[in-house]
Amino acid sequence: MSIKINTLEFENVKRIKAVKLEPTATGLTIIGGKNNQGKTSVLDAIAWALGGDKYKPTSAARDGAYTDPMLRVELSNGLIIERKGKNSSLKVIDPDGNRSGQQLLNTFISAFALDLPKFMNASDREKADILLQIIGVGDQLSALETEESRLYNQRTAVGRIADQKKKYASELVHWEGVPETPVSASELITKQQEILLKNADHQRKRQNLHELEDAYERTKRQQCEIMMKMKQLEDDLAVARSEASDLQDESTAELENNIASIDALNAKIRDNLNKEQAEDEAKQYEDEYIGLTAQITDLRQQKQDLLQNANLPLPQLTVENGKLLYKSRQWDSMSGSDQLKAATAIVRCLNPDCGFVLLDKLEQMDLDTLREFGEWLTAEGLQAIATRVSTGDECSIIIEDGCVNSANTADTASPVPTWKTGVF
Ligand SMILES: Nc1ncnc2c1ncn2[C@@H]1O[C@H](COP(=O)(O)OP(=O)(O)OP(=O)(O)O)[C@@H](O)[C@H]1O
Ligand SMILES: [Mg+2]
Repeated sequence: MSIKINTLEFENVKRIKAVKLEPTATGLTIIGGKNNQGKTSVLDAIAWALGGDKYKPTSAARDGAYTDPMLRVELSNGLIIERKGKNSSLKVIDPDGNRSGQQLLNTFISAFALDLPKFMNASDREKADILLQIIGVGDQLSALETEESRLYNQRTAVGRIADQKKKYASELVHWEGVPETPVSASELITKQQEILLKNADHQRKRQNLHELEDAYERTKRQQCEIMMKMKQLEDDLAVARSEASDLQDESTAELENNIASIDALNAKIRDNLNKEQAEDEAKQYEDEYIGLTAQITDLRQQKQDLLQNANLPLPQLTVENGKLLYKSRQWDSMSGSDQLKAATAIVRCLNPDCGFVLLDKLEQMDLDTLREFGEWLTAEGLQAIATRVSTGDECSIIIEDGCVNSANTADTASPVPTWKTGVF
C-alpha cells in the first residue's frame, strides 16, 4: 500500500503564517491563491518536513514571525513527522509511539515526488533511462541500440564502397567480340613455324624439280647415250610433276596480323576482365548492404517488441532512440500538461511506496485537462498536492497572505468538500 499524506500543518515557514490542510487521499488537491501568497511555500514545507535538511529552504523562518517554524505531517501509515523549536529538530513517531528518524522516511519518500522539476529538467536521455530502468529493459534496449548503430555505420560504409565500385565498373570499357581469356602468342608462333616448315619442304621439292629439269636438259643432249637413264628420269619427272602440281602454299598473313595485334587484343581482354571483376565486387557490396538492412530492420523490430511487451507506466509512453516519447512526441514537443502527466507516472513507478507527488504551477492545465488529470490520479490511487494561481472552484483551499482563506474555502470546512468527491 503506497503511503499518502493524511494531514499537514505548518506555521511560520517562508511565506506561510499558518496553514492546515487535509489533502484528498487520491486525486488532486489544489492549493489556489493569487501570486506571492504562499502556495509554493506549502510545497516547500512538505519537502522539508519529509525530505530532510537538504530540502530546507534558505530562509525557512518567516520574516517577522514571533515563533519558530512548526511543521507537522501525518502519513497514512500512521507516522507523525514534526519539526519545531529553535533548530527545527526532526521528530518522527510511529503508530506505536516509538521514535524514528529521517532514515525511515527515506525508505518510502521519493526524491522526485518532492521535487518533480528535478525530473522535468533532466535531459531527454536521463528521462528515457529512468523509464527504461523502471520497466526493466534498459540494458537490453541499450544493447540493441548499440548493435543497431554499429550495423548502421557498417552499412553506411559498405553502401559508400558499393556506390564507388559500381561507378568505377561503369566507367571501365568493354569490347565486343573478343575471347574471354587472353590468347597465347606461342601457340600462334608454333602454328606459324609448322607452316614455314611445310613451305620449306615445298621449296625443297620445287628445287628438286628444277634440278631434274636441268638434268633432263643435260641428258637430252646425251639422249642417245643414256636412253635407259632417260627413261628413268622421265618417270621420275612425271612423278615429281604430279606431286608438284597438287601443292598449294598456305598464307601466314593472317597469323602475322594476329601476332601484330595480339597486344592490343590482350589489352581489350584485360579491360573486359577488369570490368567483370569490378561488377562482381560492386554486386557483393550491394548484397552485403541489403543483408545489413535486413539485420537493422530485425533489430528495430526487436526493440519495438521489447517495449511493446514491457509494462509501461502510462499508455502511449515509450522510448525511441534514447528519447522519451508520449503520444508520439518528444519532451520538448509535449504540452505542459502532458509533461506533468508523463513525469508523474514515471516518478510514481520509480517508487511505488510513495503514494503522493507535489506539483507546482498547475496553471498550465485548463479545467478540462485538470479534471482528466485528477481522474487519472484517482484511478492510479495517487495523491497529488498542487499549486495553481487561481481562486476558482477547482481549488481545494485558497492561500492568502500565508493563511488559508476561510471565506473562500467554505467547502474545505464542510465534512465532504467538493474536491474530495473526485471531481478533481
Ligand atoms: N522567509 C520568508 N519570510 C517572508 N516572506 C518570504 C520568505 N521567503 C520568501 N518570502 C516571500 O514569499 C513570496 C513567495 O512565496 P510563495 O513562492 O510561496 O508564493 P506563491 O503563492 O507560490 O507565488 P506565485 O503565485 O508567484 O508562485 C515572495 O514574495 C517572497 O519574497
Ligand atoms: Mg508559487
